[in-house]
Amino acid sequence: MITLVISLHRLIFYSRNEEKFTSESMKAFVRGVLESCSKHDREGGLTGALLFNEKYFVQVMEGAPTTLSAKLWELATDKRHSTMVIMGAGAVCRRAFLSWSVGYAGRSTELDGLYMRYSPRPMLDPTVMTADSALGLMEDFMRAEVGQFVRHADARSQL
Ligand SMILES: Cc1cc2nc3c(=O)[nH]c(=O)nc-3n(C[C@H](O)[C@H](O)[C@H](O)COP(=O)(O)O)c2cc1C
Repeated sequence: MITLVISLHRLIFYSRNEEKFTSESMKAFVRGVLESCSKHDREGGLTGALLFNEKYFVQVMEGAPTTLSAKLWELATDKRHSTMVIMGAGAVCRRAFLSWSVGYAGRSTELDGLYMRYSPRPMLDPTVMTADSALGLMEDFMRAEVGQFVRHADARSQL
């Protein structure tokens, strides 16, 4: 008998932001994505984080590889972003995110210091970051809650 072992994987991608957010539409976007993550992704065992600014989205997703692939194809059809680039994907031994978090990567002295820790420029620009630095930035950002509009959807009870 062949037993298929589906281990925990992590996928990190960035894409171009095609939305022209106002502060109201940005809040609605964050609320909507978190609602949708809670609704769709809990069942599938997906957790992660989404960080964005006026130019880019960066997302980390963790779960079974088949679920991650299916979610990626689904997200690719969302017209609010374009030009998805996979920064990294592979098996991991544990999750970096136990629930879903969404945050706006604005600018402030504190935030600029964080961007500078993980990239050559004091702003969120995933085109000059590695997958590891994107992950580090997102972990620090979401845990420290230094950013504006950071919101969490707790999925821990499901895991
Ligand atoms: C950059 C970006 C990342 C997104 N990530 C997720 C996600 O991880 N999970 C999710 O359910 N929806 C995500 N969404 C929203 C979905 O593309 C889509 O709008 C949503 O799943 C539709 O949910 P509904 O069928 O409940 O309306 C994302 C949207 C964008 C623009």
